[in-house]
Amino acid sequence: MSTNQELQIAVVIGSTRTGRFGPVVADWLLGHLDARDDMVADVVDLAVTPLPTVMPGFGGELPAEEIELLAAVTPRLAAADAFLFVTPEYNHSFPASLKNAIDWHNQQWHGKPIGFVSYGGLSGGLRAVEQLRVVMAELNTVTIRNTVSFHGAAQAFDADGKPRDPAADAAAKTMLDQLVWWAQALRDARQARPFTA
Ligand SMILES: Cc1cc2nc3c(=O)[nH]c(=O)nc-3n(C[C@H](O)[C@H](O)[C@H](O)COP(=O)(O)O)c2cc1C
Repeated sequence: MSTNQELQIAVVIGSTRTGRFGPVVADWLLGHLDARDDMVADVVDLAVTPLPTVMPGFGGELPAEEIELLAAVTPRLAAADAFLFVTPEYNHSFPASLKNAIDWHNQQWHGKPIGFVSYGGLSGGLRAVEQLRVVMAELNTVTIRNTVSFHGAAQAFDADGKPRDPAADAAAKTMLDQLVWWAQALRDARQARPFTA
């Protein structure tokens, strides 16, 4: 049975580049989450909690320092009811830092929905999102149809970090409403029947 308990949303900031624009987009998105009473955000910023980039051989042991890095991220993904990926577009795809975070995990993604906020140059990150949909299908997730995207990202926000086009706020609300529907439905489903496929 569905409960009114707030949904735990892990907001994953995918870019780690020095001088990156990602936090401007993420902060605006977090304002939307803060204004709602149906979700709480946990910001997983891959620049703040970086993950190892060299994986062990199959069955191999991880060095202690890599275990420590993973411990700062993995339990938070596991605890999430849903995810929001804030991603730029790099060379018609999403950044390697985000792919690395995806690949270090498996069950933590399963049976959960993911919404996307993308940004970039001409494309607004839409190609990055389309590629993420394919990757995240492999990890048994549901990707939310509606997205929010910003082309010419640096010019799309004013000095206060607000989008110049108010349509972005309406798009965020629609995307978050869709995310909530799926997150509640899938939380109920996981409680009734753990995802084991
Ligand atoms: C390596 C690299 C590749 C990029 N490739 C694209 C691209 O294919 N399409 C696009 O629209 N913008 C592209 N851009 C522009 C970025 O999407 C834009 O600068 C964005 O703000 C980068 O996100 P960040 O500042 O959070 O790192 C690229 C930027 C970088 C650094």
